[in-house]
Amino acid sequence: MCPINNGNERIQSNKSSMLSREEIKAIEFWISQMGEYHFFTTTEQRIVPAKNILKFKYKMIGHGYNRIVYDLNNGYILKIALSEIGLIGNANEAYLYNNCNEEVQKYICPVKEFGSGWIIMKKMDTNVSHEIMEYAKLIELELIFLSYGIIPIDLRLANVAISEDNEMVAIDYGLFTMDLKSPVLQWMFDDGSTKDQ
Ligand SMILES: Nc1ncnc2c1ncn2[C@@H]1O[C@H](COP(=O)(O)OP(=O)(O)O)[C@@H](O)[C@H]1O
Ligand SMILES: [Mg+2]
Repeated sequence: MCPINNGNERIQSNKSSMLSREEIKAIEFWISQMGEYHFFTTTEQRIVPAKNILKFKYKMIGHGYNRIVYDLNNGYILKIALSEIGLIGNANEAYLYNNCNEEVQKYICPVKEFGSGWIIMKKMDTNVSHEIMEYAKLIELELIFLSYGIIPIDLRLANVAISEDNEMVAIDYGLFTMDLKSPVLQWMFDDGSTKDQ
């Protein structure tokens, strides 16, 4: 398992107790090729080459603009970056989960392992209805994060799930900002030298 960094490093040791060496290698290869597809503007256009290169046996259970998500079939899911923001999102989630206040942890999906371009998290029930009550809970959740000094960027129903304790939790907190070491803020303040050229 990868030691969680302090937010300054973006390179992680790429070992996993759940993924095989071949799977890690396939992810590394995809990440090395990912830049070739950055001019593919739609997510679908990036998903196809990612799937073809990864050739995973796992079922894809979702995707957003920046990550493809596979069900590892053992109670955990694997998110793989589809873009540079996806890379930052994975690093940011690992950083936030491991460095946030203990009380905040129950409102974010637990991180199991994290490596270069990938992250493994607990699989959660994403069947959140679009009823008014859920929107009220979403606002409540937003206020909880804010009260702990976390800015929950992109918090919406597609990015939350319901925990076993019946709490609404964020499953996509890749763009949340917590402190100046948050990888997402580091990236935003980057002078541009390492951003997409
Ligand atoms: N922990 C999880 N458990 C179950 N499904 C998940 C989990 N994390 C993500 N997903 C599914 O994958 C989709 C995309 O994941 P997300 O983290 O939002 O990626 P992106 O950063 O690209 O938006 C989610 O909308 C959800 O359907
Ligand atoms: Mg999302």
